[in-house]
Amino acid sequence: MSVLFRSFINKGRKNLFKKLLNSTQSTCRCVFFRKYSGSEKKFVSFDEIVAQRRSEAKRSIVVQVNSQASFKELYGYCSKYATIKDVHHYKNNNDEHFMLIEFGSEESLQDVLRSCSTHQKDLDTMAVNSPFLWFRTANGKTENYATPTTVLASINGIEQVNEDKLFKELVDCETVSDQIQLLYDRTRLNDLGVRLRYMVARQIECMLESLYANVAVRPFGSSINGFGKMGCDLDLVLTNTLTDEMWYWRGVQTRAGARLVAQTARVEGGRAPWARHMQALGELLELRAAGAARVQRILNARVPIVKFAHHYTDLECDLCYNNMSGVYMSELLWLFGSLDDRVRPLTFAVRRWARAVGLTNPHPGRWITNFPLTLMVLFFLQQKTNDGHVLPTLKNLVRRAGKEDIRIAEENLNCTFLRDMNKLPPECYAQNKVNLQTLLLQFFEFYSQFDFQDKAISINEGISVRKPNSLPLYIVNPLEQALNVSRNVSFEECERLKAEVRNAAWQLEAGMDKQKGDDWGLLGLVEKKTTRGLKKLLRVGNSHRLVSVKDLFNDTDDKIPEDSVKSKVE
Ligand code: GTP
Ligand code: MG
Repeated sequence: MSVLFRSFINKGRKNLFKKLLNSTQSTCRCVFFRKYSGSEKKFVSFDEIVAQRRSEAKRSIVVQVNSQASFKELYGYCSKYATIKDVHHYKNNNDEHFMLIEFGSEESLQDVLRSCSTHQKDLDTMAVNSPFLWFRTANGKTENYATPTTVLASINGIEQVNEDKLFKELVDCETVSDQIQLLYDRTRLNDLGVRLRYMVARQIECMLESLYANVAVRPFGSSINGFGKMGCDLDLVLTNTLTDEMWYWRGVQTRAGARLVAQTARVEGGRAPWARHMQALGELLELRAAGAARVQRILNARVPIVKFAHHYTDLECDLCYNNMSGVYMSELLWLFGSLDDRVRPLTFAVRRWARAVGLTNPHPGRWITNFPLTLMVLFFLQQKTNDGHVLPTLKNLVRRAGKEDIRIAEENLNCTFLRDMNKLPPECYAQNKVNLQTLLLQFFEFYSQFDFQDKAISINEGISVRKPNSLPLYIVNPLEQALNVSRNVSFEECERLKAEVRNAAWQLEAGMDKQKGDDWGLLGLVEKKTTRGLKKLLRVGNSHRLVSVKDLFNDTDDKIPEDSVKSKVE
């Protein structure tokens, strides 16, 4: 967020706070934010997790406070209205303090919300319902509140790990496997990170509930698929709460017999109705969603989205419309990740490595992204080696699906696969007990030898299949097998991927020994390649190096710009 934008927000907020303090009644201290211009089962199912998270969000509010010290007062104030389950504290990038409060029941939350001032609610025909509030300083004498019966569940709860500290810890690990596990434990999205993502979804849902029937806003992608790191973006989809039951309606029971049918608005001229809804959604976010800023409408893309930044939670959000296949894809990735404890740490290591060598990039372009990279890891883990495989094929999960697993997404896309992993026979997964260090090395070796020229990666089959066209990198879309999820990847980027996996295999094998110094094991792979680091690599005789000596020493900056590295492929 730019400094200019922050100071604008701050200035706006200060003026608004001043105005509100003068104009609202003193007894109401939680105030809506307004726009200023804003039998022991081994496996739990994805649906159960999502239902629990959605329910938590429906029982929670996020309150801006002066500091962490406001906990006691806020707790005392809110517990007058309802039973509190948990309170989490966090700060955003602007150093503003917030408390996420989870209440015992949805009814309790409604009691708290009814106690809120919505700033001249009675006069405001455009009042908005929102779980994002702020806690006003007490007017006059402070009340004596009861001492909290719980402690803060987290303090500075979304603070990202300090990189220097992380690297020091990685240096001190005993084995590469420990390093991979530590990287995962320290950087994965934590409980509060997930809660806040569901809170933003809930905020938009509340905003739309007054306009649309049965509306649901669901997070998907890395926020919920088990492969998200702290600070990852928030992908949201606007759907119907009944979507999951759609399949049932289709074939088994239709509403054709109903004689009262709702009149629908005739949308004339110009864009398709859904595009107009997305357009309107952009307007609504600007007008009605406190904390939403920098709203952008990207409606010509294959999956049209509205992008926005959420100021109170520091989240970059992409909201799309009726894209249930994205949710089912997230479910699929989550299920694969839940089958074996090594899947997620290994994927984190690969994603971090790819970022460090500049294979992935936060901006869209002709390079591979985290999603296809994750599919590459899953595909590798499906391989039947001498040690046995780690993950089943998707074909296997589809074959075992029951009636309860049937899901049909938009455009009749069949997203049916086994959802309850308790029904999967044990011989279908975790057949080898190889450690993370070996798996990572095998991953790089596997792709060093992979025939990218003629073969496609398919987690449906678990074996490579013939490429249907000559695109440089072909990774079959698991839910829409005629599509390639890496169709954007250029020839040069694919060549770089091939070279970097060879490089990494060599580097990891050569650097397994802790005695090798500060960049042993995983460190040599995940540290940003600095000129110093690369010079060192060359000194030890890296035969697969990607960057010519001349190019390297021309680069006087500590960090080699990604674009220049990309153009230096041999
Ligand atoms: P990061 O945002 O990089 O942390 O990872 P992500 O998994 O969230 O990826 P991204 O935001 O790019 O995409 C969000 C989700 O959309 C993915 O997890 C997939 O479920 C889905 N997705 C992404 N790319 C494709 C694609 O090419 N085809 C399909 N069908 N789904 C995709
Ligand atoms: Mg994402």
